Amino acid sequence: MRKFLVLTLTALAALVGSVQADTPRPGLLDSGDYAGGPLGSALQPARVIPGNGDVYKVGKWPTYTAELAAGPGRDTVLGHCSMCHSVTYITMQPPLPAATWDAEVHKMIKTFGAPIDEATAKDIIAYLQAHYTPQTRKQ
Ligand code: HEC
Repeated sequence: MRKFLVLTLTALAALVGSVQADTPRPGLLDSGDYAGGPLGSALQPARVIPGNGDVYKVGKWPTYTAELAAGPGRDTVLGHCSMCHSVTYITMQPPLPAATWDAEVHKMIKTFGAPIDEATAKDIIAYLQAHYTPQTRKQ
């Protein structure tokens, strides 16, 4: 009985295998061996081995932070919106519709846990809408 079962399973596996091999897989346009080519041969610069008396020059750490547009609410934004990231996150957005700035500030509060009360959020949104929408953005 056991032998019969093993034989049956082996035959079944062979059958499934041959059907699979002949049936093109849906969505597969081209098949082949993708090994070889430049894979595994990315060039790396040679390691610098420090020597005695070497002199190193270290440049300034880049700390660019965008200037926010002048206007009421700017300090509130600087104070509350640079806790986790720089305010460059504001200026690097494309001009966003007023409603999107509202959603953005609430996302910072609800999703990322920015400790900003609703009254302050209102001031921040008003500032962003006054300077960073398609209608109001100047720089
Ligand atoms: C509690 C931390 C925190 C505070 C405070 C905060 N943010 Fe963010 N902000 C984040 C995180 C986290 C991301 C996502 C970062 C990423 O994806 O690289 C983000 C991303 C952004 C982005 C990029 C677009 C996006 O939705 O990912 C903008 C614009 C932005 N913040 C604006 C603001 C403004 C305006 C304020 C002030 C109201 C603010 N943030 C305050 C955490 C914060």
